[in-house]
Amino acid sequence: MKDLLRTEDLSRADVELLLDTAADFAKNPLRSTDALANKSVAIYMTKSSTRTRLASETAVAHLGGHPMFLRGEDLQIGRGETIADTARVISGFASALIVRTFAQSDVDELGKWATIPVINALTDDDHPTQLLADWLTIREVFGSDISGRKFTYIGDGNNMANAWMTMGAILGAHVVVATPGGKWAPNPLAITTAEKIAKGSGAKIEVLTDPQAAAKDSSVLYSDVWMSMGDSESVRTEKLAALAPYAITQELMNLTTTDSIFMHCLPAHRGEEVAAEVIDGPKSVVWREAYHRRTTIQAILYHLNRGELTGNI
Ligand code: CP
Ligand code: NVA
Repeated sequence: MKDLLRTEDLSRADVELLLDTAADFAKNPLRSTDALANKSVAIYMTKSSTRTRLASETAVAHLGGHPMFLRGEDLQIGRGETIADTARVISGFASALIVRTFAQSDVDELGKWATIPVINALTDDDHPTQLLADWLTIREVFGSDISGRKFTYIGDGNNMANAWMTMGAILGAHVVVATPGGKWAPNPLAITTAEKIAKGSGAKIEVLTDPQAAAKDSSVLYSDVWMSMGDSESVRTEKLAALAPYAITQELMNLTTTDSIFMHCLPAHRGEEVAAEVIDGPKSVVWREAYHRRTTIQAILYHLNRGELTGNI
């Protein structure tokens, strides 16, 4: 496996390896400072980022490498240079490319032409590196035995909902996604992909529209923003109205198990998708989750660089 372009690229063994290594990097961040010594990693973003940029730059530094942050508008790609040519040039300077942009097809295209590992740091369809941080956090709280537990995402049927289903499917989990029906439901292709993986892993994937039924007896309630970076401002009023019943409130948390946790990839909007008393309350693990963005990206760079991920083949 050369690249991490999509969550579905990962095998269960890859995820286990990455989570184990990331747990180790949490304890000993400077364990492998020779891994990227004298090497550079390009971080190319055409969307905003707080966590992913900080995590990526820190992860590269902790592996002994040099991060090169490239904003979309600074490259000639914004003036018509092709993705293929850009990928070939970056491959001559960097040892890996971490990329955040709109279209998944652009990331796929970079992966096709780059001779170095390309890592998806969020597209409109997926967010694989986030899901690794999420599952490391889940493991720290509940351990590796997830049987009998229900892991529930409530909100917009966006990139996070897609990735939530896919990663749950890979890990054999019981995952639930509750979104409004129609326009804001998850992409049917993402549901099919997760269901296909679930057949092999024994996972259970439920796609619902009822937030109360979804929350009931869950070990995790997960939330994300209602307006994503890829969304047009013109849909704001209509979308926020459709999503209003999907806010994670204390009443919804009261339906979950006594040991349940609240998760959010962040950034969060208190009073919109989540109540302040929930995200700032005792069940919230959002800061640990954010912290693990670095440990998991460090693990991805480490293992991709050594050619140690097999991929979902
Ligand atoms: N969760 C996440 O990807 O955060 P940023 O958009 O700040 O990178
Ligand atoms: N769905 C959000 C995730 C942010 C980390 C977005 O794409 O903006």
